[in-house]
Amino acid sequence: MQTYRIGPDMDDGFIDLIKRRRSIREYTQEDVSDAAVDTIVEAGSWAPSGLNNQPWRFVVVRSKEIREKLARCTRYGKIILNAPVLIPILLNKAVSYDRTKDTQAIGACIQNMLLALCSLGLGGVWLGEILKNKEEVRIVLDLPEELELMAVLAIGHPGHRNQSSDREPIGNLILKRI
Ligand SMILES: Cc1cc2nc3c(=O)[nH]c(=O)nc-3n(C[C@H](O)[C@H](O)[C@H](O)COP(=O)(O)O)c2cc1C
Repeated sequence: MQTYRIGPDMDDGFIDLIKRRRSIREYTQEDVSDAAVDTIVEAGSWAPSGLNNQPWRFVVVRSKEIREKLARCTRYGKIILNAPVLIPILLNKAVSYDRTKDTQAIGACIQNMLLALCSLGLGGVWLGEILKNKEEVRIVLDLPEELELMAVLAIGHPGHRNQSSDREPIGNLILKRI
């Protein structure tokens, strides 16, 4: 087990990273190192979870054969075929104690992973549409029933850096200040 304590340092670049992160769906064919994958997964694992139950599990997929099978499970198959690395993220139902809280924790885990890969200069996208075939994906990945697919992260070196997005201004989002 690793232990970290809260540090006193402030990092001004972090808010910028949150805003710079974009869903990247096109990649070069340059490989993503195992060290980078481990850093991304570790960042995910430092997300908060209820009772610190850490309900997430990961599979690292590089195999072309498996990617071809997964591509058939979603209309975003082109992204899956193009990405050098996929990380399916699974809920470990064996340690789950509250479905809402556990899925929230997994969302936090996935966002950590997206921010980590962005900070490494990589691009990625959270794929959720594939969940319509989560059972088929579980079988393709040869996983037991207690692992439920939550998302697939597609990761690679960005094919371009001109992806844009927008958000509602916070004035429309904050309902009231009381
Ligand atoms: C739960 C969830 C599911 C998503 N599923 C898909 C998907 O199946 N395919 C896809 O191309 N993008 C998917 N996205 C990415 C969103 O389209 C993207 O985050 C949104 O358009 C905002 O763009 P940005 O990430 O660049 O800020 C998903 C995002 C989330 C959070």
